[in-house]
Amino acid sequence: MALPAVVPRHIAIVMDGNGRWASKRFLPRIAGHQQGVEALKRIVRACAKHKIAVLTVFAFSSENWSRPAEEVSGLMELLAMALSKEVSQLKRDGVQLHFVGARETLSDRVKHGFDSAEASTAENNTLVLNVCFNYGGRWDMVQAAKRLVHAGLAINEDSLARSMALAHCPDPDLIIRTGGETRISNFLLWQAAYSELYFCDVLWPDFDEGELDIALQAYAS
Ligand code: IPE
Ligand code: IPE
Ligand code: MG
Repeated sequence: MALPAVVPRHIAIVMDGNGRWASKRFLPRIAGHQQGVEALKRIVRACAKHKIAVLTVFAFSSENWSRPAEEVSGLMELLAMALSKEVSQLKRDGVQLHFVGARETLSDRVKHGFDSAEASTAENNTLVLNVCFNYGGRWDMVQAAKRLVHAGLAINEDSLARSMALAHCPDPDLIIRTGGETRISNFLLWQAAYSELYFCDVLWPDFDEGELDIALQAYAS
């Protein structure tokens, strides 16, 4: 497929459908999340190839703590594994990593993993990858407002925008949600003000470069 002429600078993705992908195969939900990591690796490579500047993905929401304890601990384990296994390749590929979300409640192991992944990729400039983990759009607005109050600064659109967790990036041009649901689920509430929204039925572990191209074609038209 020919690449579209208008390529978004910043794509954000709600990576949904891992659980259903696993259920369809009579596998435990965590198997779907594992395949979800593989899908993310494919899409990072495809975005770099398409010269997209920023990719932001929703990996774990503020509300996902209410899932069964076994699934939550499986997701934390998967995150720790990905941090130890994948960061060196991402670093070689020129990816600049950012972890976006509340960190206080995460384990020391995960917090250290976030800090060292960010520090070791800070000089990279092929693709900015924001991984939203323990993130919620409402959390983001509240933490931005709290920071301004703490600093004694006025709250207005400009100051809030500069205090938001994604202040290092332009707002997303395109937000994709896989898995068939047509809602935002507390993703980038502030930053989505003018984003194009694209929903598709493909479950996240099945999302690949071809599916991304279809989304990019829809965006361009
Ligand atoms: C999205 O997939 C990944 C996370 C929320 C961590 P789901 O786990 O929500 O998959 P479905 O929606 O149940 O299929
Ligand atoms: C949104 O998916 C969050 C992530 C993909 C991390 P959910 O599956 O958690 O959202 P709901 O529950 O369908 O709204
Ligand atoms: Mg879901």
